Parts: sequence; C-alpha cells; structure tokens
Amino acid sequence: MKFFIDTANLDQIAEAQDMGVLDGVTTNPSLMAKEGITGEQNIIDHYKKICDLVDGHVSAEVISTDFEGMVKEGEALAALNDQIVVKLPMIKDGVKACKYFSDKGVKTNVTLVFSPGQALLAAKAGATYVSPFIGRLDDISTDGLNLIAEIRMIYDNYGFETEILAASVRHTMHVIECAKLGADVMTGPLSSIDGLLKHPLTDIGLAKFLADYKKGNS
Ligand code: G3P
Repeated sequence: MKFFIDTANLDQIAEAQDMGVLDGVTTNPSLMAKEGITGEQNIIDHYKKICDLVDGHVSAEVISTDFEGMVKEGEALAALNDQIVVKLPMIKDGVKACKYFSDKGVKTNVTLVFSPGQALLAAKAGATYVSPFIGRLDDISTDGLNLIAEIRMIYDNYGFETEILAASVRHTMHVIECAKLGADVMTGPLSSIDGLLKHPLTDIGLAKFLADYKKGNS
C-alpha cells in the first residue's frame, strides 16, 4: 500500500518524507489556498518545491472545467517534472481529458469520485489513479469505505490497472480499513500516518526495557 500525504504544507511533507514511508503527495486548490499559495506562478513554483522534497508522484490539479483548458493546463503541469500526475475532476470533459492524457502516457488522477460508476468511467479512460473521497461520504452518513470495497471488486473483476487512491482520509482507522479492503494508495493528513505509530503498550514496554537496561548497567 502506498502512503501519500494530502497537503501543500512543505514542513509536513518534509516530516513525512523524513520518516521514510512517504510515496507521494496529493494537493488540490483548497489545500494550496490553505497554505496561502495563490496565483498561477506561485502555484507552479510550489509544485516544483514539493517535487524537490519527495521522490514519488505529486498530484497537481487543473482548475479548468472544459476539455481544451484541462489539456492546456495539464500539459503545462506535466512538463514541470516527471513526478507530476495531472489531477482531473470527474466530469465529462475530465473523463475525455483523462483518455487524452493516458493515450499520451501522461499520468492522471481522477478526483471527486463518489460512486462506483464514476470509478468505472475513470478506469475505462485509463486513469493512473482514481480518488474516491471516503471522508466526505462519511460526512453525509454514507459509508465511504464501502465505496472502496465496491471499486476494488469492479477493478478486480476486469483487471483494471487504475490504482485506487483512497482520498479524504481523515484518521488512522480509515488507513487501516482501506488497507484491509485492498486500496492501492491512501492519501491523508500527517496525523493519519503518525497515528499508526501509537500504542500505549509500546510506550510502556519501551520504558521498561530502558529501565531494566539501566538497572543492569548501573
Ligand atoms: O484528498 C482529497 C481531500 O483533500 C479532501 O479531503 O478532508 O477535505 O474531505 P477533505
């Protein structure tokens, strides 16, 4: 399972990278705005900084909603660095742009996916990644994890190679459940990765090992 971090915050990206378990980064216009990154050139420069920090794929989202605009933006983004994955919205022109890019060997991530049918379309269009938003489904009293299970079944039925990138992951249990369901990738905040570390018995056990070592060596 790949771990992506879902942020445009350079310190958090560096911290996750430093732990040695980070496989990539996902961003979106909201995450960029949260870091105060606005304006086309600043956003481009920020993508370059993110690519310099990590080794893996970096999803960069287009803001156009028409095919021509998405192609123009996506081509410019993909030209920045080999690590860039062009992130496209799950709308008709987004599917068309996904097919266009996949035919050209440009990596894509189809985002804002909330149903198995949308995921099927993304796979048919040759998406590298599909991003089902599990937290936002949970927010409206719909089981987000069930969507992961449904997409896994559909993709396995037909051998689709599109990777299921569980997005809108909010916490550690989302990560664990996605792993059990066979999501290829999860993207979440740093806290969802850090949370995996925690167990009180680990802390108690370590304290005892160190105390016993001290006793034996004093
Ligand atoms: O990965 C998609 C993500 O950024 C949305 O997350 O927490 O805003 O639903 P959230």
